[in-house]
Amino acid sequence: MDAQESSTAAWGSDFFGTLNGMPPEPVVAIGGVLEAMRTEPALQEARRTMLQNLGLARGGHVLDAGCGTAAALPDLLEILGPEGRVVGIDPTTAFVAAARELAQRLGATAARYEIGDIRNIPFSSEEFDAAFCDKILIHAGPAVVALAELARVTRPGGRVGAVEWLPYFAVSTSRPDLATKMNDIFRRAVYDFGVSVNLVRYFHEAGLSDVQARAYLAHADSLDAHPFWRAFLVQQMPLFVQAGLISEEDGNAVVADLEALSSCGEFSASFVVQSAVGTKPA
Ligand SMILES: C[S@@+](CC[C@H](N)C(=O)[O-])C[C@H]1O[C@@H](n2cnc3c(N)ncnc32)[C@H](O)[C@@H]1O
Repeated sequence: MDAQESSTAAWGSDFFGTLNGMPPEPVVAIGGVLEAMRTEPALQEARRTMLQNLGLARGGHVLDAGCGTAAALPDLLEILGPEGRVVGIDPTTAFVAAARELAQRLGATAARYEIGDIRNIPFSSEEFDAAFCDKILIHAGPAVVALAELARVTRPGGRVGAVEWLPYFAVSTSRPDLATKMNDIFRRAVYDFGVSVNLVRYFHEAGLSDVQARAYLAHADSLDAHPFWRAFLVQQMPLFVQAGLISEEDGNAVVADLEALSSCGEFSASFVVQSAVGTKPA
């Protein structure tokens, strides 16, 4: 284990902090959930708009901190061109391996994916034209430390961006106690549940100026409206039970209730996504 890997080994305050210790199957399953999240319309629009507002030009150099399986790579290649200099870091070894495979499949020869922690980015100051993170601050806190690191590695005048969501589902239910238990899973599985609604304040505290924020609504009227809903709310439930975030009985009851409502056309679920982009003062 190198120095960077050992510095991330202690980050266990969060569900993702347990992944390197898990057998491969559940980690691959979570990679599938990330893939479903990649195309969920509100999350996708938030990511694309944030990336377009980073001020990147063809040939630009950009850091994706907490890259996961490289969900942002296709969008970045559209902005930077096929030889875009994308660098991704993530502490989850299986995700970094998947990101490298995707880069190879897409012919992104100048893209690099490495093990790394957003709170201690393994690159020199002012190395990138822009730096961003997508659904990371909720897991890897404190947010101001992470954002200050993104600002440090960005050149003066360059931009820093973040997308974050509030994993609170405004959801139809025939048992309000179950909806509360379901939302408690996500509240307990993350490091900073409310980070999305505080992005502008955290960007300012990290020394970024001219911060522009936006909000997006994700919504579905059926569990099958988009693969995200079933992947996130149903397929992950055994993992949440295994991680002690909900009892097996309650987890099964939540899933049965969601399925019943969806099959009779009475399902409704929504959540809010936020994004922010700020400038590193020249
Ligand atoms: C919901 S995923 C998002 C991944 C990717 N950005 C995407 O949009 O698909 C959360 C990611 O945060 C990563 N993560 C957790 N703690 C981190 C840290 N301290 N530094 C960087 N990434 C971290 C996890 O390994 C995981 O890949």
